[in-house]
Amino acid sequence: MTDSPRTLLVSSALPYANGSIHLGHLVEYIQSDIWVRFQKLRGHDCIYVCASDAHGTPIMIRAREEKITPEQLIERIAAEQLDDLQTFGVDFDNFYTTHSPENEELVSKMFERLRDAGHIYTRTIEQAFDQEKQMFLPDRFVKGTCPRCKTEDQYGDACESCGATYTPDEVINPISALSGTTPVWKESEHYFFRLSTFTEPLRNWMQAAKLHRNITAKLAEWFDAGLHDWDISRDAPYFGFKIPGTEDKYFYVWLDAPMGYVASFLNLCRQRGDLDFDAYWDKDSKHEVYHFIGKDIVYFHTLFWPAVLEGSGMRTPTSVFAHGFLTVNGKKMSKSRGTFINARTYAKNLDPSCLRYYYAAKLGAGMDDIDLNLDDFVARVNSDLVGKLVNIASRCAGFINKKFDGVLADKLDDDALYTEFAGAAESIAAHYEAREFSKAMRQVMALADSANRYIEQKKPWVMAKDKALEAEVQSVCSQGLNLFRALMIYLAPVLPDIADDTRELFREENWQWHDSAKPLLGRRINAYKPLLTRVEQKQVDAMIEQSKPAAAAVAEQNDTIGIDDFMKIDLRVARIDKAEPVEGADKLLQLTLNLGDSERKVFAGIKSAYRPEDLVGRHVVAVANLAPRKMRFGISEGMVLAAGPGGKDIFLLSADSGAEPGMRVK
Ligand code: MSP
Ligand code: ZN
Repeated sequence: MTDSPRTLLVSSALPYANGSIHLGHLVEYIQSDIWVRFQKLRGHDCIYVCASDAHGTPIMIRAREEKITPEQLIERIAAEQLDDLQTFGVDFDNFYTTHSPENEELVSKMFERLRDAGHIYTRTIEQAFDQEKQMFLPDRFVKGTCPRCKTEDQYGDACESCGATYTPDEVINPISALSGTTPVWKESEHYFFRLSTFTEPLRNWMQAAKLHRNITAKLAEWFDAGLHDWDISRDAPYFGFKIPGTEDKYFYVWLDAPMGYVASFLNLCRQRGDLDFDAYWDKDSKHEVYHFIGKDIVYFHTLFWPAVLEGSGMRTPTSVFAHGFLTVNGKKMSKSRGTFINARTYAKNLDPSCLRYYYAAKLGAGMDDIDLNLDDFVARVNSDLVGKLVNIASRCAGFINKKFDGVLADKLDDDALYTEFAGAAESIAAHYEAREFSKAMRQVMALADSANRYIEQKKPWVMAKDKALEAEVQSVCSQGLNLFRALMIYLAPVLPDIADDTRELFREENWQWHDSAKPLLGRRINAYKPLLTRVEQKQVDAMIEQSKPAAAAVAEQNDTIGIDDFMKIDLRVARIDKAEPVEGADKLLQLTLNLGDSERKVFAGIKSAYRPEDLVGRHVVAVANLAPRKMRFGISEGMVLAAGPGGKDIFLLSADSGAEPGMRVK
């Protein structure tokens, strides 16, 4: 029996549009996709939305670095992300972007409602400002020495060495990560949301949402510490939505990101025409709304998000589900160990179904981290999926295909055994519903064990040699195949591809959860095709090798640099706009370089080979991302490359190289 139909709207956190999907992200997308597929299989009306999280400073900076517009960057990355997620069977009803007209409309409306209800105020704050880049710096873009333990090169908000958290103005010797210059502190007016007045509504919501105890414990800490109002604006230049009625203020990315869920749904409503947007998002909505997120973004989803929804008169989420972080072989994912594995690299070497199963076998409802132990992965997938599960079908289907013209027996050999499998449906469903996937997998695999024991006892391959036992071979193999089919229905949310192939084997159009209640009898099946092959250790080894930064190993052994180090050097063509002698220095010239989008003053020891007036207008190759250095005669903001032994023989780019300022040199 399936419970009465529900209408659910489910989201996964929106991946930032400035990087590739990796195995850590996949914990989340696979977890939510399994839950959504389960709901659909149960006959519920479940809509699954996501989007690319397109706004914010890091995306703006990355686009600048690539010399493309942020729009071009987010479009390219979103397409790649969707492609990767689909490769892993993640099946969104809509994958959209936060940089959309729907989102701007919704966020602006929310802001106006919050403002009109008195939940917004402005206050002048001081923030680090990069004078060279002419922009305010997010905390993460200020670097310096930890004020507590004095470790150098830490971010402006926290120390990775001692774990202290602080504000950028406390950092010792702060520098801007963008220009390497020392930031100044500058005032600016910001918009704040009165989060502190929402303590009571949030406590009520927390009760109603029946949050997992892991989350409730976190919230209790935050409530005890007292809620601070939330700074929701950022100054230009920023890639985001402009705040209505202002010229140079933008919504902070974390205000419009969760609204991206709603906007993705609104976009779907506009595409489909059969969905009532307001019925989902009005205060008195009867529909269920769930957000799947990682433990690092609980604050945003259980405090800010329900509070701004509440404050603007919208419904709040039915609940929020948070998972833990992925570790690989017991440690944080690491590029140098080759365990920072991108979705693409995995898919080049291994079957996505295996990862889906492995994660399902490890996932529970809480925020515990989950470990991908690669030896265990190989052993588990081979033993559970190949050895136990697929083995049931491969041992039985051949006989039905060859000896009985592909037709299943009219009756089962062991009705009681089938009833046991069918009877497990509700308890397995309850585990899925509660996101206790590991419990569901354990129960399914225990049934697979008993199916294998059954076949082992009956030994159809022995019976098949005896003409008199022909009918029995057919009913035993039909039994085995029906047990397999029931298990595949239970596993369909986790293994959609294998479930599709299984339905194809049984010539079935589609499945519902309750289809496991009755066995298939007296009907034809298709020829059996292998459903999954064993995982080999060498596939895993290849994936790890391909995930290592190339040549890093070599670089560690001798004093060569790896390709990664080389790639860090941003070589650009520059035009010399000015060349001046430096007073008191007989080898140096001060050059003013034009790099296409910026200007640099650089000292170069080339006076012995060139007269300043001959250099003007000439092109050179320059290191564009060298941190500015204080030299005896002033600050040098880069480096010019030249070849030759010195003296009269110092060679720059030829005068007619055809190069353009700003061009990348590779
Ligand atoms: N853009 C924000 C989310 C905005 S939601 C309105 C963000 N993006 S993210 O790309 O950094 O992460 C997307 C999701 O993947 C988050 O839920 C995050 O917790 C999850 N994970 C990212 N790395 C992860 C692991 N290593 N392990 C498990 N989940 C991880 O946060
Ligand atoms: Zn420290």
